[in-house]
Amino acid sequence: MNLKPILNVILDQYRLPLNDIHGVVHWARVLENGLRLCDETGADVDVVSLFAVLHDSQRENEGYDPDHGPRAAEFAKEIRGEFFQLNDSQFWRLYYACEGHTHERTHEDVTIQTCWDADRLDLGRIGIVPHPARLCTDAAKRKETIDWAYGRGAMEFVPERVREEWGIDVGKSW
Ligand SMILES: [Fe+2]
Repeated sequence: MNLKPILNVILDQYRLPLNDIHGVVHWARVLENGLRLCDETGADVDVVSLFAVLHDSQRENEGYDPDHGPRAAEFAKEIRGEFFQLNDSQFWRLYYACEGHTHERTHEDVTIQTCWDADRLDLGRIGIVPHPARLCTDAAKRKETIDWAYGRGAMEFVPERVREEWGIDVGKSW
């Protein structure tokens, strides 16, 4: 899925710094965490990819903002059709994954599980090692996965796709 046109419309209204803890570099790491998990979980790659760039896109601050998930779900509904296409079964998963990503622990649907794990695996950026009990899928709970993702978050790794595929310059670091 080409995320560039979707990112353009998301960034047109994004209120926070691109390179802060909930910005595009986080979205790119969530995407790459998710793609890695999809290989094993069989989750829907398009839903996981859209979740990565949408789930924090409606934040109003970098701290306590309990309604940013529901706002992201509604934003996804607004731009569906014009900026991306999903069938109803896929869209339901994307909507719910965005809506519940901060306050729900797990879900019976593996695509929603994979979305939430992809996000939680990036807690290294705020110095937190993801705990297996807070993850949903076996693929994410594996020590090798946690170590890999934690390392990338902790070192503020900027995936190449941010500049090369998305054309976004976030500077060296923050
Ligand atoms: Fe996030």
